[in-house]
Amino acid sequence: MDKIYFDNNATTPVAAEVLESFLPYYQTLFGNPSSLHWAGSAVKGAIEEARQQVAQLINAHPEEIIFTASGSEGDNLAVLGSCDALRQQGNHVITTVVEHPAVLDTCRYFEERGGSVTYLPVDSHGMIDLHQLEQAITAKTVLISVMWANNETGTIFPIQQIAEIAQRHKVQFHTDAVQALGKVEIDMQKCPVDLLVMSGHKIGAPKGVGALFIRCGTSLTSHIHGGHQEQSLRAGTHNVAGIVAMGKACQLAGQDFFQRVEKLKQLRDRLQYGIMDQIEDVIINGHMESRLPNTLNLGFSFIEGEGLLLHLDMYGIAASSGSACTSGSDAHSHVLIAMSVDKWLLNSCLRFSFGDQNTLEEVDRLLEVLPAIVLKLREMSPMLTSGVDLDDCPYVECCIGHH
Ligand SMILES: Cc1ncc(COP(=O)(O)O)c(C=O)c1O
Repeated sequence: MDKIYFDNNATTPVAAEVLESFLPYYQTLFGNPSSLHWAGSAVKGAIEEARQQVAQLINAHPEEIIFTASGSEGDNLAVLGSCDALRQQGNHVITTVVEHPAVLDTCRYFEERGGSVTYLPVDSHGMIDLHQLEQAITAKTVLISVMWANNETGTIFPIQQIAEIAQRHKVQFHTDAVQALGKVEIDMQKCPVDLLVMSGHKIGAPKGVGALFIRCGTSLTSHIHGGHQEQSLRAGTHNVAGIVAMGKACQLAGQDFFQRVEKLKQLRDRLQYGIMDQIEDVIINGHMESRLPNTLNLGFSFIEGEGLLLHLDMYGIAASSGSACTSGSDAHSHVLIAMSVDKWLLNSCLRFSFGDQNTLEEVDRLLEVLPAIVLKLREMSPMLTSGVDLDDCPYVECCIGHH
């Protein structure tokens, strides 16, 4: 049985071309780029080429890119580094309740150290209110941090407008673009973002490498001390192979960008409409227009998402019942709670996220097995067998596949 992987928002397989590009940096090209001899010089150029490739994908200048070890590290540096650098001006941060823990937990840490944070709520589509954002800005606000796209639902935030609001109020603006990179157009010449976080393993590079865009003139204090690598903003011997891979992955993500995005949309829509046609009482979580091309988060009423996930796993199909960071814990998704998803449905949501390696045939295989699994699980569902009247369940009205 061929395995099918629909969990690309958790991580992606390393693309063959990427693997080929970085392997020599574990073998013959093993030098430390900070060394002055031949072994160091041989790899220095590769890092600068990778910096250019990353910059090109977001239309930035190479000197505005520093390499990190992960998206989480980039988020920590952007939030805490901004707050430290700007502490004379204020101690207030504005973010949203649906950020990744790499931002949310960093904001909580900042609060524990005396900072003040406004967490903007979202509506039922996972969207913030720009008027509310602007109202939240005070004389003490030093940073606005809003993700480009949500990892669980795929909802895309109006980053251009938020960046313009931040610019108008002279507040630094950070966006976590880990899930948006390679899937939405990002242009740092047009969009006045100050800090933008990227992660390699979401776009076909290996785990353990990321990048941070820092617009020239942005205030930022380093949080990893030691050597003078990366403009003294991030000490540590370069992960040369990872950085080369990140550069290559960015180059590939930029190639045939629109065809790639179109293909991802096709996969998502095939699954969405296939499910709507065949399965009743399913809702879509997320924004219907402003959303990532590759992400589909669905609530299957009356069944446990984990049960569904395990049944799919028996068919070799991988999906996710939450973000990779909350799976394994009993906690409900903070994103779905913030969107006021009905409590009956919180346990029954699954995320399918597609990648470049996926095919329409794979989606069709999922559609062949999914309706029968859902039917079987519903037959066993205590909610249905104990005679709950469907009309008493408030969420049924908003079910897309209820016919
Ligand atoms: C939106 C978002 N931000 C940050 C991260 C963290 O990235 P990394 O795994 O590289 O630390 C993730 C990973 O799931 C993510 O989805």
